[in-house]
Amino acid sequence: MMLNNSDWYDLARETNWTPTYVEEADLFPREISDPYDIPVTEWEKFDEPYKVTYRDYVRTQREKDVGAYSIKSALDRVSFYKSADPGWKALLQLHFGAIPFVEYGSVSAFARMTRFGRGPGMRNMASFGTLDEIRHTQIQMFFGYEFLSVDRAFDWAHKAPNTDNWVVISERHTFDDVEHTRDAVSAAIMTNFSFEQGFTNLQFIALSADAKRNGDHSFSAMLQTVQSDEARHAQIGEPLLEIMIENGKLAEAQRLVDISFWRVWKQFSALSGVGMDYYTPLAKREHSLKEFVEEFVCQQFSRNLKALGLDKPWYWDEHFLPDIETYHHAQHLGMYLYRKTGWWNPVAGVGPAEREWLEKKYPGWNETFGEVWDVITESILSGQLDKTEPSVLPMICNMSGLELSGVPGKKWNVKSHFVDLDGRRYHFGSAVDKWIFELEPSRYRSHKSLVDRFVSGVIPQGDDAVYEYMGMAPEERGRCAEDFAWAEAFRNRKVA
Ligand SMILES: [Fe+2]
Ligand SMILES: [Fe+2]
Repeated sequence: MMLNNSDWYDLARETNWTPTYVEEADLFPREISDPYDIPVTEWEKFDEPYKVTYRDYVRTQREKDVGAYSIKSALDRVSFYKSADPGWKALLQLHFGAIPFVEYGSVSAFARMTRFGRGPGMRNMASFGTLDEIRHTQIQMFFGYEFLSVDRAFDWAHKAPNTDNWVVISERHTFDDVEHTRDAVSAAIMTNFSFEQGFTNLQFIALSADAKRNGDHSFSAMLQTVQSDEARHAQIGEPLLEIMIENGKLAEAQRLVDISFWRVWKQFSALSGVGMDYYTPLAKREHSLKEFVEEFVCQQFSRNLKALGLDKPWYWDEHFLPDIETYHHAQHLGMYLYRKTGWWNPVAGVGPAEREWLEKKYPGWNETFGEVWDVITESILSGQLDKTEPSVLPMICNMSGLELSGVPGKKWNVKSHFVDLDGRRYHFGSAVDKWIFELEPSRYRSHKSLVDRFVSGVIPQGDDAVYEYMGMAPEERGRCAEDFAWAEAFRNRKVA
C-alpha cells in the first residue's frame, strides 16, 4: 500500500541529528548559521509553507521545461528577433546580459541555506531552491545563446560576470551584499523575502505579460516557468521572519528588510524600469513601471510586511515613493548618453507619442526629464551628435554602483550625500544608500566604483582603456539602436 505524503513527510525531513564526530558548533558555525543565537528547537518549528516531495518536484520541473523548450523549438526565434522592434531587441539584450549570472549566483545562496540553515524544513525548501536556480541559469543561458548568431550582445549572457563592466559591478555589489556575504538566515531573509517576494514578480510576471503582448511567446513562457519557482522558494523568508520576531529579534529582522529592499529596488528600477517604460514598444506596453510597482510592491508586499508585524522601511514615504516616479527616468537618460559603456543598443523611447504617454503616466515628466531630451533632440537634429555623448565619466554611487542622479529641469533637487572616512570621500546617490554604508562601513569601505578605479590609476589613462578594462571590444559597445532616426519626428515641429 502506498503511504500518503502527509503520513511520512514530517518524519522524513527530521534531519537534525546529534553529531558525534564533531561539535555541533563546528558543524553549524554561529557566524554562518545563526548569529542571532536562537535555540535550535525554535528553528525546528520552521514548517514549509509549500510542501513538495522530491519525486513530485522533479516531475513538475520536467513538465515546465518541456513546455518552455517545446514552445521555443516550435517557433523560429531567430526570425522573430530579426524583425522585432529595436526597443524589444534592446530589452532582450539587456535582460540576457544582466540576469543569468545573478540566477547562477543564487544557486550558491540557496546552497548555503541548505547547508547551514538550522531548521530541517528550511534546508529542505532551500534544496529545491538550489535546483530551481540551476534551472533558471540554464534555461536563460540557453534562450539567450540562441540569438548569438544574429547579435554579439548575447555573448554577455555568459561573459558578463567575468567582466568589470559598470552595470555588472553594480549588480555584483548588490547581490554579493544581499545573497552571498551574510549568514544563512540573514541572506535568506534578504534574498527570499525582500528580493524574491518583493520584486521578482515585477521582473517575471510583468515582463512576461509585456513579452506576450510583443508576440515573444517563448520568452514569455520561459519567464513564467522561472516565476512559478520563485513563488515557491521565496516562501522561505516568511517563516524565518516569524521565528526571529517570536524570539525577540524584531529590530534585527526589520533592519535586514530595510537594507535589502532598497538595494534590490535600485537594481530593479534601473534595469526593469527602463525596460518597461522606454524599451517596450509603446503599443505593447501593459502598464508603466509605477503601476506595476504600485500593484506588486506597494500593495502586495506591504500587506506581507504588515501581516508579519513588520513596518514599511523607514524611508518609504520620503525616499521610496518619490523614487518610483523619478529614478529610472534619470537612469535611462544616463544609460542612453553613456550607451557605449553598455553591451546593449538602447532606444531613446521618447518620440512624440512616447512623450505623451510618459507625461500621462508621470505628470511633470515634460518639464523635468523632457527638458533634457529636448536638448538631446536638438543636438541630433542640428547634426551635433558628439553632444549626445558625455566626454567625462559620471559620478557613481558608492553603494548602488549607479550614476548619481536627480530630477532635472524645474524640479532640480540634487543633493550631495557623502561620508569621509580615513582620507577617502564616499559619494552616495541618496540618503538611504549613505545610511546603509554607515551601518557597517567595514563591509563596504574597500569597494571601489568604476570611477574610483579610474581616478586611483587601477584603470590606465587613454581613450580606450576604460572599455578595455570593462572587457568591451569596439563592436560590443552600445550605440543608438535607431541611429538617431527617432529624432526626425520632431524636425518640423517645435520640441514639446
Ligand atoms: Fe531564480
Ligand atoms: Fe529565486
